[in-house]
Amino acid sequence: EQTWVRLVTAQTPTNIAVIKYWGKRDETLILPVNDSISVTLDPEHLCTTTTVAVSPSFDQDRMWLNGKEISLSGGRYQNCLREIRARACDVEDEEKGIKIARKDWEKLHIHIASYNNFPTAAGLASSAAGFACLVFALAKLMNAKEENSQLSAIARQGSGSACRSLFGGFVKWIMGKTEDGSDSLAVQLVDEKHWDDLVIIIAVVSSRQKETSSTTGMRDTVETSLLLQHRAQEIVPKRIVEMEEAIKSRDFASFAQLTCADSNQFHAVCLDTRPPIFYMNDTSHRIISCVEKWNRSEGTPQVAYTFDAGPNAVLIARDRKAATQLLQKLLFYFPPQPDTDLNSYVIGDKSILK
Ligand code: PMV
Repeated sequence: EQTWVRLVTAQTPTNIAVIKYWGKRDETLILPVNDSISVTLDPEHLCTTTTVAVSPSFDQDRMWLNGKEISLSGGRYQNCLREIRARACDVEDEEKGIKIARKDWEKLHIHIASYNNFPTAAGLASSAAGFACLVFALAKLMNAKEENSQLSAIARQGSGSACRSLFGGFVKWIMGKTEDGSDSLAVQLVDEKHWDDLVIIIAVVSSRQKETSSTTGMRDTVETSLLLQHRAQEIVPKRIVEMEEAIKSRDFASFAQLTCADSNQFHAVCLDTRPPIFYMNDTSHRIISCVEKWNRSEGTPQVAYTFDAGPNAVLIARDRKAATQLLQKLLFYFPPQPDTDLNSYVIGDKSILK
């Protein structure tokens, strides 16, 4: 009996929020309580590569993450698979003699192999790149003819922040108004060429896995923090407008001020949660002080900092000169100490040190 395999490979970088998403108004559909804005990293660093395959010889859907088989039974994977399958179209690959009719996709099974080019355990956002890449690769495999914004609303159901990784450059996740989440999707604000002076450096403060998952943390915050309500209703809507303006006009002073303030407010909201959530540690706080002091002494900001659900610092320098100075400061104040919690090595463009 003749058999065949059709393969598609995609690569997706992770993204870092400069106006944070924290809190869901619907946990199943993953609908947020506020808009958010992020920057997508370049694909060289922190990216996921996913190959999806279909063959009549596969008897069930299966997935391997970094070479180890993982279960696809979770609701998040099932939602993404179901949504793409519902949009599958006819596929005809004359070269390989493959013909798949739209209705065949209901019976055919998929194999997925996904790799992160960074340590998954390093506490760096991996689900964002992972679900974006999975949804994009599946859409290509099944010839789903959706725009990236439409695909982002599917990736969102895997992991909220994943919807922003369907685009490069600066991206806004619009929270949406509808109950079914069809208008909760990502749009590109500017592409990656718009502000290419910026240099992003990630200081890995601790490679330990975070103690509170974002899902549990958000749930506790939504249920107990009054500060979150104030943030979502009063603060973020204004900040989103100001941030879009700062990005469009490449106004680094405003960009840095908004980015740092929003990171600090996100961590304040975590502290306002019952029980309180501590994502940053002493080293994170020392990095903040170091950047704040430097920015003040220069008179105009050189670097913005932002921290996600963990202690690692994401530092955005205004240009290569500032990035070089920043790296020198980091290596001086936080010399790499392997095997300790103070291991602040740097992922990024090391060539700028030369
Ligand atoms: O998409 P999740 O569940 O991994 O949540 C991400 C939350 C933050 O990284 C802290 C903020 C954000 O907007 O990415």
